[in-house]
Amino acid sequence: MIPFIEKFSQIFALIALSITGLIVALVLIQSNAKIAETTPSFGCGTVSEYSYQDTVKISGVTSVGKTLFDNNCQQCHSPGADVVVGPGLRGILDRRSIEWLITWVQNSQKVIASGDPYAVKLYNKYNKTMMQSFDLTADDIKAIFEFVQSYRPVT
Ligand code: HEC
Repeated sequence: MIPFIEKFSQIFALIALSITGLIVALVLIQSNAKIAETTPSFGCGTVSEYSYQDTVKISGVTSVGKTLFDNNCQQCHSPGADVVVGPGLRGILDRRSIEWLITWVQNSQKVIASGDPYAVKLYNKYNKTMMQSFDLTADDIKAIFEFVQSYRPVT
């Protein structure tokens, strides 16, 4: 009988130990998650000339938009007001609808060729500089303009 009780208490101690370990692990995971939540997802090492007033608030979609913008548009456009090769895109959604912008980015030459007065005027103003077509989906383009809308210059 005694050896049985001994074994039983050994097993009990083992179970208690595992539960304690599990609790410690859970607490550690939780505190790590808290740190990750408060750490901005952007920082040094991406594109240094842009910064954000509040990096923590940038949504997943906007960070996708920023990457797409950096890879495809940045060489010709600022998300602010400055002219680079093409016009600064600040406030673009006040000038054009998102549907127009999707068509434009996918094939700006087609919009100009269709005789769209806004597009023709802009094309002439920028000395008939061609903006190439982009093989981007409507969602990609929406993400780009969401990033442009959320962009604030360094203050
Ligand atoms: C090679 C340079 C170049 C690249 C790359 C480029 N653009 Fe353009 N973009 C232009 C030029 C130049 C214009 C002015 C119209 C024209 O000449 O066709 C323009 C015009 C625009 C306009 C209209 C702006 C206004 O004020 O109405 C939007 C919107 C735009 N581009 C978005 C984009 C986006 C989004 C990307 C990336 C996916 C992009 N562009 C990539 C050169 C470029």
